[in-house]
Amino acid sequence: MTAQIIDGIALSQKLRTQVSLGVAKLAQQGIKPGLAVVLVGDNPASQVYVRNKVKACDEAGFHSILEKYDATLSEADLLQRVDALNSDSSIHGILVQLPLPAHIDAQKVIEAISPAKDVDGFHIASAGALMTGMQGFWPCTPYGCMKMLESIGYELKGKHAVVIGRSNIVGKPMALMLLQQNATVTICHSATGNLKDITLQADVIVAAVGKRNVLTADMVKPGAVVLDVGMNRNDEGKLCGDVDFEGVKEIAGYISPVPGGVGPMTIAMLLVNTLKSAQR
Ligand code: GUN
Repeated sequence: MTAQIIDGIALSQKLRTQVSLGVAKLAQQGIKPGLAVVLVGDNPASQVYVRNKVKACDEAGFHSILEKYDATLSEADLLQRVDALNSDSSIHGILVQLPLPAHIDAQKVIEAISPAKDVDGFHIASAGALMTGMQGFWPCTPYGCMKMLESIGYELKGKHAVVIGRSNIVGKPMALMLLQQNATVTICHSATGNLKDITLQADVIVAAVGKRNVLTADMVKPGAVVLDVGMNRNDEGKLCGDVDFEGVKEIAGYISPVPGGVGPMTIAMLLVNTLKSAQR
């Protein structure tokens, strides 16, 4: 059996078209969704991500600003910039690209963002809202994964979902979203000793570790749904995920590729969150 591909490019385009309609509607009230993206330092991957986010905003008809700072920017100066953006009425979403230079306390910066503008969903108020099922912004990557499951009409109720990775950005919020849809959820991580035993029981697997070949064909139950959040480079320097795509696609029922899977969905959900913030 060869898995059906979950096409993140096509699905993200669909969502972005819906966002554009929302933008047109808001324009009638004289409102333009505004996103501020803040980049500190010159991390090459971050530069690419940030460029793609700003480009997507422009294409959606958003107002966007990109603030780039030297890696030497002080924490106090960054906090002051966040404060200024909190009070800027043309800005509905604030995104501080991570990772930040080591001398800056990233959590402190995230907590300085107004929860009303936390379109990344990283603030503890957003995390708490997700945990308790209250209204709030959901982190874009796991939110995009949920949209992918929705797009294939997947019913999570009673299914066993296994999340590999426990980051605040992906693994933990992913597990909570799956739980909210009544899946039985297992979170695996670097100290999990029997990963294969667990993944072999999974109906849904989300791989979010940041390491190649974390999930191979022998670890997947036939017909399982596999979402690959990884963004790695292989020996030839080509972009690849955490999943051995070529092997796993012969076993899984559905699989998301890298590139062209979760990545474009993350950007689409950022637009969705920023539009939602502007609508509020
Ligand atoms: N670094 C890696 N992914 C993300 C993301 O979704 N948002 C931010 N702000 N930084 C990141």
